[in-house]
Amino acid sequence: MTSHQPERDIDSSLHEDRVFEPPAAASVGSAPWHVGSLTEYEAEHERSVKDPAGYWGMVARRLRWMGPYERVLEGQFPDARWFTGGRLNACDNCVDRFVDEGYGDETAIVWEGEPELSGGGSGAPEVRRLTYKDLQEQTARLGNALKKLGAKKGDVVTIYMGMVPELVIAMLACARIGCPHSVIFGGFSSQAIADRVVDANSRIILTCDGAWRRGKVVPLKDNVDKAIEMMGGQSPVEHVLCFGRCHNDIAWGSPDRCWQEEMAAASDDCPCEPMDAEDMLFLLYTSGSTGKPKGIVHTTAGYLLYTAHTARLVFNLVPDAGQLYWCTADCGWITGHSYIVYGILQNRVPTLMYEGAPNFPAEDRFWDIVERHKVTHFYTAPTAIRAFMKWGEEHPRGHDLSSLQVLGTVGEPINPAAWMWYREVIGGGSSGKQPCPIVDTYWQTETGGHAITPLPGATPTRPGSCTRPFFGIDAAVVHADGSECEPDKGGLMVIRKPWPGMLRGVYGDRERFIETYFSTVMIDGKPVYTAGDGARRDRDGNFWIMGRIDDVINVSGHRLGTMEVESALVAHEAVVEAAVVGVPHEIKGTGIAAFVTLAKGHAPSESLKRELGEHVAQTIGAIARPDQVRFAEALPKTRSGKIMRRLLRDVAAGVDGQQDTSTLEDFTVLAKLRENDE
Ligand code: PRX
Repeated sequence: MTSHQPERDIDSSLHEDRVFEPPAAASVGSAPWHVGSLTEYEAEHERSVKDPAGYWGMVARRLRWMGPYERVLEGQFPDARWFTGGRLNACDNCVDRFVDEGYGDETAIVWEGEPELSGGGSGAPEVRRLTYKDLQEQTARLGNALKKLGAKKGDVVTIYMGMVPELVIAMLACARIGCPHSVIFGGFSSQAIADRVVDANSRIILTCDGAWRRGKVVPLKDNVDKAIEMMGGQSPVEHVLCFGRCHNDIAWGSPDRCWQEEMAAASDDCPCEPMDAEDMLFLLYTSGSTGKPKGIVHTTAGYLLYTAHTARLVFNLVPDAGQLYWCTADCGWITGHSYIVYGILQNRVPTLMYEGAPNFPAEDRFWDIVERHKVTHFYTAPTAIRAFMKWGEEHPRGHDLSSLQVLGTVGEPINPAAWMWYREVIGGGSSGKQPCPIVDTYWQTETGGHAITPLPGATPTRPGSCTRPFFGIDAAVVHADGSECEPDKGGLMVIRKPWPGMLRGVYGDRERFIETYFSTVMIDGKPVYTAGDGARRDRDGNFWIMGRIDDVINVSGHRLGTMEVESALVAHEAVVEAAVVGVPHEIKGTGIAAFVTLAKGHAPSESLKRELGEHVAQTIGAIARPDQVRFAEALPKTRSGKIMRRLLRDVAAGVDGQQDTSTLEDFTVLAKLRENDE
């Protein structure tokens, strides 16, 4: 997994001494803290790690079961199984149980569309509120519509939709009838859809005609059509069910069905399918260190329990306390799966969804939403915070943000300056009020839910540290031989014991599952989970994530494999060889620098740079468009032929992308220096 020594690579120079004690609950809202002191956290954490079965067995009483489980935990890494024999349904736990308990008329989802309604010239945004009863009815109808299209328990259904409530309805309807979903982020290209659909052998795609983004329509249905065309004879797709959102022109072919019509014709009687605890709930593709994204498999009971429990304690969710939770992620990422949908709905706290961009029609859109809806919990990515900082304080200052109680971040390390700005400007610190606590949550697609994170009422926080492991997480920073690193010394981030939310596999690729996560570090001869991140732990036991140590880069909190971008580049006729590295970027955290050598007959030029950038965006999606494209006569390599990425990283970081010219790089001098170094 690692292509170089983590200890050499990790920047341990970041020191941050400011400590912020957790506030008293009364100063940030009406609900008491679930965990109210560090002592309580420490005692409970110790207990949860010593006796995972006892701990999670106790928590599992919060789920609604359809049949009892036999054992809480069976087996070990890599094949730990949770709640074996138990039966339950994810949609039932998010929706139906609350209808049965008498909360059917309460709001489950508050949705705001991007466009402002033109009717009457009010300029008011379009808002929809869906109750648990609405979700029950809609997921039942869609479940029946899917069955009519031939969906059977266990079939993977692909979802490629914009941020409309129907996307959540689609996920829950799949869960309702026992079909694992595979959600593809709406920003991904046709090629990305094709790869994922073929890998999952998915016969049904749920999509929208389009999605609103900065006032323009993203042509989702067209992208699906192109993907099907690209798959050609390999295409497993039989049906495309299309939700009409933007009313843009779309082609209508034989596999296509109209969502609204099918829903109207379907019965609303569709009981939740009893699923085995370890049946696959969903599959979510994420980037790794090869060119091919991998389908991370999550199962039903462990994932549900873990997301519900982390959401409850990390955000301090309490039903009937007037809370309104908003996570700004897209449902196409794990953050949306766990903390827009499953973890939040299970807590019976309404979840807000926003369809569009943070700067449409103006750069205060998010703060306008917080003020109008009285959002109490706000969860976003450091890259967004850095963009807000750049846009200027006047935008949040122009709105009443006093409803906010807890702030969260996720996706990448947060720089202390952004953390402080979040606390002072968004969390109200600079207004003299008790600032909202910040939870910097470290986790991954593979962990299912938060792995290392503060608890808002218990953990003293430090800007830039994700602080302490969540309950049941036996986290450590270790050397490659498994021994624990000294405090403040960089090493590999590992988890030594199974936890309920852990991935259960890489879809269709057992070897890759074992190789990627359970082959790098052994302790007492047994594998531990290796996260692929470098980290250090300080003397007080706080974790500091130093970033990826494999060939994965984190661009604006989105995960991309350097090899994916390289494969896209070499598929262009002008490119012979490509090497892609991460480069520090003011807003994105990490940007993408691509070094390419050109085929005969192609010369470096600004227009070719743009063309290559566009080509990558078309092949993968706009998030993968390189920030720098640089031409080289040859790529610097070691004598054994390995590309010297460290050297490329240095070259890329030393140059401001703006001033970058299209001239050829001369690596020979630096490369020779490096060779002598080896
Ligand atoms: O490098 C870590 C970084 O994001 C990676 C996981 O990416 P993904 O699976 O797409 O999930 C992102 C949302 C959970 C990790 O390996 N990462 C995530 N959260 C943090 C982080 N790095 C530092 N601090 C965080 N809070």
